[in-house]
Amino acid sequence: DSVVLAYSGGLDTSVLVGWLMDKGYDVHCLYVDLGQPCEDIEAILQKALDIGAKTSIAIDVQEELCRDFAFPVLQWQAKYENIYLLGTSIARPLISKIVLQRAREVGAVAYVHGATGKGNDQCRFQLAAEALDPKVKVIAPWRMDEFRELFPGRSEMLEYCEEKNIPVKATASKPYSSDENCLHISYEAGDLEDPNVDGIPIIDFGMTVSPQEAPDQEALVKIGFESGVPTSVNGTTMGAAEIVKALNQLGGENGVGRIDIVENRFVGMKSRGVYEAPGMTCLYAAHQALEQLTVDRDAAHFRDRLSPEVAEMVYNGFWYCAKMDALMAFINQLQQPVTGEVTLGLYKGNVRIVGRTSPNSLYDEAIASMEAADEADYSQNDAEGFLRILGVPLRVQGKARPRNY
Ligand code: ARG
Ligand code: SIN
Repeated sequence: DSVVLAYSGGLDTSVLVGWLMDKGYDVHCLYVDLGQPCEDIEAILQKALDIGAKTSIAIDVQEELCRDFAFPVLQWQAKYENIYLLGTSIARPLISKIVLQRAREVGAVAYVHGATGKGNDQCRFQLAAEALDPKVKVIAPWRMDEFRELFPGRSEMLEYCEEKNIPVKATASKPYSSDENCLHISYEAGDLEDPNVDGIPIIDFGMTVSPQEAPDQEALVKIGFESGVPTSVNGTTMGAAEIVKALNQLGGENGVGRIDIVENRFVGMKSRGVYEAPGMTCLYAAHQALEQLTVDRDAAHFRDRLSPEVAEMVYNGFWYCAKMDALMAFINQLQQPVTGEVTLGLYKGNVRIVGRTSPNSLYDEAIASMEAADEADYSQNDAEGFLRILGVPLRVQGKARPRNY
């Protein structure tokens, strides 16, 4: 029997290649390239073959991740518990999709991943996989007594690698766990588990400088959107991943997009995490500014009531489902007028809106202006009757139940 392993080349998934072989499986390794840092993908793939994998391939899905996963979430302005931009969460269903495509190609009987039994990632991997292939068999070794008994800690894994001649890169082990793709980097666990310990001196940030170390000069950047989709940076049309990366660079240089949160995991416990998402932070700010100009008030307020729901669904792993399909149809319609350009000012961790323009703007200076205006557009006299009617229930209450004041 053969299995497909979501393989990263790190210690855990390298051990998994050996362990799955010990169990008698043919192992097909799949490195899903989401823009995580990797000095040498070829070397990582070769390492899997050296351990004994049947095949070992990489698939670059960065464009798909940004275009078809992150950007719809951006259009929703979805943030988990108000601040987390879901950079890890949204990548998981895509990984499952790519793994299952590979499983079909090689005729695998199971999908193996290295997520623990205590986290969110297992939920996202599995729920997406079950939606796509209702018969899927998922093997999550960290949820198996047998595996945890063999490998209670890192040292047992290192011993196993030694024994099996599995090369281990002598990376200085960091006092936390991180997950990176082109959207963001997360930092959790280890020394960060105490929520009262400052993350800044502990974390080796990969995308952002500290605001204190950012330039003293504000950097301006102009972002273009078409129907809610980011399409250009400073006037240059770019693909989705290219835009995110260009803004990661600019935002990162200016210390933009770091957060520190104690979040509620789907499996129940609270967990402290630090994140940096410079490019997506710029995109959320710019997109919101353009919506303010182009989206009708009631439509916008209605969307805003639903976005926490979308954030929670993405966080919990309910991506491929009827409810999400319907929510996506809704947001797609709502985003039709969201076309135009927004200029941001990036300065020491802050993002400010410098200006915004749109051919679809609903903003009417003539109506909004406090200057003498055409009474045909908005008659101040009409406000008199508008407020008399709105006041009916308040006057009734005031009469029946007088308040002390
Ligand atoms: N807590 C974040 C989330 O649930 C980040 C998870 C990071 N995953 C990891 N394997 N390090 O989306
Ligand atoms: C894991 O447990 O595999 C990482 C953390 C998480 O998924 O929330």
